[in-house]
Amino acid sequence: MNPSGLKGKTSIVTGGARGIGRAIVTALAVAGANVVIADAREVDAQATAAEIQKELGSRILAVGADVTNLQDMEKVRDATLRDFGAIDILVNNAGWDRLMPFLKTTPDLWDRVIGINYRGVLNTCYAVLPHMVSRKQGAIINISSDSARVGSLGEAVYSGAKAAVIAFSKTIAREHARDNIRVNVICPGLVDTPLLQEIQHEEFGQKILGSIMNYIPLKRFAKPEDIAPMVAFLASDAASYITGQVTSINGGLTMAG
Ligand SMILES: NC(=O)c1ccc[n+]([C@@H]2O[C@H](COP(=O)([O-])OP(=O)(O)OC[C@H]3O[C@@H](n4cnc5c(N)ncnc54)[C@H](O)[C@@H]3O)[C@@H](O)[C@H]2O)c1
Repeated sequence: MNPSGLKGKTSIVTGGARGIGRAIVTALAVAGANVVIADAREVDAQATAAEIQKELGSRILAVGADVTNLQDMEKVRDATLRDFGAIDILVNNAGWDRLMPFLKTTPDLWDRVIGINYRGVLNTCYAVLPHMVSRKQGAIINISSDSARVGSLGEAVYSGAKAAVIAFSKTIAREHARDNIRVNVICPGLVDTPLLQEIQHEEFGQKILGSIMNYIPLKRFAKPEDIAPMVAFLASDAASYITGQVTSINGGLTMAG
């Protein structure tokens, strides 16, 4: 991709402080975009923003925000517009999960999983879409999960929430194509991030993930940097005819039609 393909564009990345989000922030910055990181880990977000800004020279702002709270996401939108004047790209990446059999989960856990992984996407889109509609321009990339496409042991509620992200994204893609807004979904397989490491430290997570490498044709977990280039591509004009699509990046673990 053209390394300056996003020059002058402004993006918001939720959950950009670490893991996949951090790699996405870097990829967008490398492509020339300004980036606003919206993350509940405010201190980590500030550190990430400062490090990437120093390395790449692009403008990166960090805002402490909880995606489950609509007012927080309105605050992120307003801060972005104040500093950069427009929002061209929205990446809904913030997510959270714990592995356990459905019957061991509790309604409180359902609320947390659905709140972060699904409602967070609704809140952010609700806050940002009117601005994109008014400019007749925008690219939204939502990070779902391969579990949403094929199910995944120990991730019943998470898989459901991530599947909701796919259905929501396709509907918004249809509703806002007339506004020149494209909406696409990326479904990672297993990615080596702090979240995956936390899951692997728990007994059930260890049991489920222990033998999974045998089923990954490319024989490794993804690095966050394996996911990020697709985000930068989908955000760019090179993808101007791509909307409502779901792409897995999973080393071949699943090959959904
Ligand atoms: N790691 C994987 O194997 C994997 C696989 C499939 C999908 N995903 C998805 O990729 C995305 C990134 O995951 P990751 O592995 O990098 O996770 P991570 O925990 O390493 O990073 C997630 C970031 O999101 C932030 N975040 C969490 N809850 C938030 C909230 N309520 N408000 C604002 N920020 C919040 C965290 O502070 C963190 O900085 C998530 O949507 C996740 O579900 C990850």
